[in-house]
Amino acid sequence: PKVLVINGPNLNLLGTREPEIYGATTLVDVERGLQEQGEALGVEVLCFQSNHEGAIVDRIHAARGEGVAWVLINPGAYTHTSVAIRDALAGVAIPFVEVHISNVHKREPFRHHSYLSDVAEAVMAGFGTQGYGLALQFVASRC
Ligand code: DQA
Repeated sequence: PKVLVINGPNLNLLGTREPEIYGATTLVDVERGLQEQGEALGVEVLCFQSNHEGAIVDRIHAARGEGVAWVLINPGAYTHTSVAIRDALAGVAIPFVEVHISNVHKREPFRHHSYLSDVAEAVMAGFGTQGYGLALQFVASRC
């Protein structure tokens, strides 16, 4: 089974971006760790990052044709703004986990609302970059 990991805007800066909030681990490290974990769990991990909303929508659409079983998505700031990403995930009907590195509920009020949470199978927030691995463990057990 295939699991697609999508990271949205500014997550390419992971490791150097506001490290007190997002930690010191880079996106390359996160993705490499997930690929290794995926091998151990018997799932193929595909990784994608984009700063562009439409590119994320296109990647979600392509996932259906590729037979992706689960999506893990950290939509970054698009979490709080994007009806288009919500509709794309609902449109392809691939189950997904919404992942946030930080605990968005502990932060500014504008981060408390998500356009994805009520259509997500599960939501991770505040587990740091470890949250991706925890989410991968969860979806691998349901593949
Ligand atoms: C984030 C939280 C969002 O509010 C923020 O815009 C991000 C990252 C997180 O992983 O904690 O870019 O999704």
